[in-house]
Amino acid sequence: MTIQHNISLKKYNTFGVECYAKRFVSITSFYDLQQLLKTEKDIFLISGGSNMLLTKDIDKLVVFINIKGISIDRENENSVYLTVNAGENWHEFVLWCISQNYGGLENLSLIPGNVGTCPIQNIGAYGVEVKDIITKVAAIEIASGKQITFSNKDCKFGYRNSIFKNEAKGKYIINSVSFKLTTNKHKLNTSYGAIETALDKKNSTNLTIQDISDAVIAIRQSKLPDPKEIGNSGSFFKNPVISVSQFIALQKEYSSIPSYKISDTEIKVPAGWLVEQCGFKGKRYGNCGVHEKQALVLVNYGNASGKEIYELAQTIQESVVKKFGIQLEIEVNIV
Ligand code: EPU
Repeated sequence: MTIQHNISLKKYNTFGVECYAKRFVSITSFYDLQQLLKTEKDIFLISGGSNMLLTKDIDKLVVFINIKGISIDRENENSVYLTVNAGENWHEFVLWCISQNYGGLENLSLIPGNVGTCPIQNIGAYGVEVKDIITKVAAIEIASGKQITFSNKDCKFGYRNSIFKNEAKGKYIINSVSFKLTTNKHKLNTSYGAIETALDKKNSTNLTIQDISDAVIAIRQSKLPDPKEIGNSGSFFKNPVISVSQFIALQKEYSSIPSYKISDTEIKVPAGWLVEQCGFKGKRYGNCGVHEKQALVLVNYGNASGKEIYELAQTIQESVVKKFGIQLEIEVNIV
């Protein structure tokens, strides 16, 4: 465990923004993490770097969580229980599960980031959220250095939300996540429109978790930019939830407005649609812009600063408020 100085964080954030860490340490074991916390409390954590926008250099010690390893805790007739260390790459873990015929994560294929951060924003896509498969989360309390276990219920999961974005924010370091997956009789989730369409095209009957994963990968590749090619952080905004009365009023003016019912009083509206209607889709502003195929994704064309991207996000927010009276909430952590 060596502390390095003046390290560029460009390759540690999927937006590919250039910012510097005054001091930086890569942590590869639970033991090293506990040792470090004996002397360092004022730290800044970085893992997959897929849900953050860096707008300034980091003065705190940047701790890169790079603890690897997957263990099988137990198996019964239909299920397997796994514990996965925080530094495992999410998509590689999903592909490994599929190769072992472990079902449950196939709809979450190709999501950038690492396992340790998946509970924080409760990653979700194509009808599945990771909260459906997580059994517990192990974390170290920064103040005491003690290991704490959060049950699924303790995590207080919600749409792109959890305890780790609220009362537990900044207090813990997630070191592993445990999952319950199926080993047979997989419950395939094909209800999301785009998956049904992709599978229909394949005309398959006996669908496997591999087929679902392939369909999700194809859909994502067709509309979401690959962070290795063009910097981005996936959905930049959350899909807003509005009241039914506000929705009905908007529908009178914009009859094509898409929606998902949340409850008898609330409706979720796709932020991507709102942003597109305001004319931002595919537009470039200096070094950054709005992706041409998914208006929910802001992109860095190479040399954008975090500030530049954040300013574009604010311009978009103002425009959406003006046109629709809806305040978009930023999903990515602004640093
Ligand atoms: N839409 C537009 N214009 C756009 C984008 C979307 O009109 O530029 C409309 C689509 O036509 C569709 C609706 O919005 O009617 C929904 O679009 P899509 O299926 O692409 O999903 P989304 O609501 O925009 C959410 C997640 C994605 C996730 C997809 C699929 C959020 C904030 N985003 O996007 O998550 O992959 O559903 O489940 O909930 C991420 O978090 O990084 C992410 C990519």
